[in-house]
Amino acid sequence: MAIKIPCLHLTHLHDTEKLGVALGSISKKGDCICLNGNLGTGKTTLTQAIALGLKVPPQCYVTSPSFAVMHEYIGKIPLYHMDFYRLNDSNDILGLGLEEYFYLDGLTVIEWAERATDILPDDRVTIEINLKSDETRAVRFITENDDLAKRYKKVLLNFAISDQPKS
Ligand SMILES: Nc1ncnc2c1ncn2[C@@H]1O[C@H](COP(=O)(O)OP(=O)(O)OP(=O)(O)O)[C@@H](O)[C@H]1O
Ligand SMILES: [Mg+2]
Repeated sequence: MAIKIPCLHLTHLHDTEKLGVALGSISKKGDCICLNGNLGTGKTTLTQAIALGLKVPPQCYVTSPSFAVMHEYIGKIPLYHMDFYRLNDSNDILGLGLEEYFYLDGLTVIEWAERATDILPDDRVTIEINLKSDETRAVRFITENDDLAKRYKKVLLNFAISDQPKS
């Protein structure tokens, strides 16, 4: 049975940044993070912070790879940042050979991963970001992989987010 991972409510931008840094720092070779959420919910923002947590040099600014579909960054381990927004389905991803990166020695982070659920690795964590009317982000974590679930649960249980009201 899947291990339950606590949900989070991110009130401020720096909560998202703190979450990303924490997730980047516990990421291991072969991990895959799938980011789902509407336009502007913070998928690229979270990926930028994950890169910081992976020690990608700050001068290598992480931007959305919408046109290139994939950007690679060198950190503690490689970061493969993909964005499937402009792709139709898994055939496009297979045509570009992107699925090979899932099984290399790095962390894959995919925006709009729901475009191609049929070819995503089984050992992945899906992060769903939901933008609420007050601009806070409700974040849900879903994984069937016990190792990922344990690592995430540990980091999230100790994750103190801002309790200050939004200014
Ligand atoms: N708590 C928050 N978390 C994340 N982003 C926030 C937050 N509060 C405000 N923002 C702002 O919301 C915007 C999110 O943009 P971002 O490009 O990260 O979204 P995205 O989900 O990648 O969009 P797209 O689907 O177009 O790729 C940024 O301008 C960011 O500064
Ligand atoms: Mg984006």
